[in-house]
Amino acid sequence: MTRPRIFVTRRIPEKGLEMVQSLAPDYEIEVWQDPLPPAYEVLLQKIRGVTGLYCLLTDKIDANLMDAGGPQVKVISQMAVGFDNIDIPAATARGIPVGNTPGVLTDTTADFAWALLMSAARRIVEGDKFTRAGKWQTWGPIDFLGPDISGATLGIIGFGRIGQGVAKRAQGFDMRVLYYDTQRYPEAEQKYGAQSVDLNTLLHESDFVTLHTVLSKETYHLMDDARLKLMKRSGILINTARGPIVDPAALYRALANGTIAYAALDVTEPEPIKPDDPLLTLDNIIIAPHIASASFQTRNKMATMAAANLIAGLKGERLPNCVNPQVYK
Ligand code: DGY
Repeated sequence: MTRPRIFVTRRIPEKGLEMVQSLAPDYEIEVWQDPLPPAYEVLLQKIRGVTGLYCLLTDKIDANLMDAGGPQVKVISQMAVGFDNIDIPAATARGIPVGNTPGVLTDTTADFAWALLMSAARRIVEGDKFTRAGKWQTWGPIDFLGPDISGATLGIIGFGRIGQGVAKRAQGFDMRVLYYDTQRYPEAEQKYGAQSVDLNTLLHESDFVTLHTVLSKETYHLMDDARLKLMKRSGILINTARGPIVDPAALYRALANGTIAYAALDVTEPEPIKPDDPLLTLDNIIIAPHIASASFQTRNKMATMAAANLIAGLKGERLPNCVNPQVYK
């Protein structure tokens, strides 16, 4: 008798893998071994006939793919909090619950946004390159100057869990914290001394602008030429959310022309960034390869949380973290 199948689209942290492998007597499990994600055409083949799909943000999961899977697909479990790579309405229409991993990466990602902020302000990456290139000849009174962080104004776009985590850390730096979101968070405002403002005010008054919103039709290229121009010329932009929230061509112009001073990105459009992308020719930008959640502890938690969602879905139980609970109505 053939066993129901599970496809895992990449090698995942050990603890999550063990949970998935524990299903082996009853399920046939395939884990994609290549370090690069399966191409869409390959995924179309692999999903055919599966009961459970364990996927990552690098996999495009659209209606076509779900249909290629077949009516027996019981669950799609993603090892990420973001799910803009998955067509959620299509999954809901097909009655497939989709799981994600909220909460566990909040602190790790907020820490990393701060690491980028500090590295950009204090020009740590530039300094490191300079040292390695053998250019460090003396202590320079006007070398590598950057803005103070303490006492500066921090503008947070998107004030959900991670945005609030960034605000919490700003308290230690005596910063004025502004935020822009489509909703108000009175409790967090009090807790972190944050003030809700409109987007233009935030861009105009902040020394640091950090993005923590989801990617949607509304936020696609939110940071375009016009909005970058609203920032201070000394302003620093940080993006640990999703690449396409920033228009990369506009960002290049802003950094090259001195419209803003610096940017620090963990996410890009496209991802990975192409080796000939003009942004890579600039000195006033730091680009990390989407690693904000990459701590040992957090990646293990994400992997086990996604495994728990997968297992619940296979059993026909409600996913502990489901992004489309409408499927249960
Ligand atoms: C997510 O989970 O959405 C992050 O971008 C990767 O950790």
